[in-house]
Amino acid sequence: MRKIEHLGIAVKDLKASNELFKKLLGQSHYKEEEVGGEGVMTSFFQVGETKIELLEATRPDSPIAKYLEKKSEGIHHIAFDVEDIHAEVERLKSEGFEILNETPKAGADNKLVVFLHPKSTNGVLVELCQERK
Ligand code: CO
Repeated sequence: MRKIEHLGIAVKDLKASNELFKKLLGQSHYKEEEVGGEGVMTSFFQVGETKIELLEATRPDSPIAKYLEKKSEGIHHIAFDVEDIHAEVERLKSEGFEILNETPKAGADNKLVVFLHPKSTNGVLVELCQERK
């Protein structure tokens, strides 16, 4: 893994949180993007080499809606940038980590993404992401 690509933060109201993070970071988000398959609307802020991804549910069965129901707003996942997502999945499987989707799926920001089950990573939802070429 090469760096923390972004931190994902679950929010209830993306518009309000865009304003809040604009004040916090001193800059506006640079894009919003819907990920239909996941039922989320995302918004991205660049902070040096890494990013903040705000996540708002777009439907009640969205993983983010369920997360907000069970927990509250806050850090939802850590995403690591990887060079070869297939090789990383194989490596992590052999180390005993539980992979939620072994076949990478399309994520926001032109990425292929795989998630690890939080129960195998100290309660942290880990995302691997590889730039799509
Ligand atoms: Co993410």
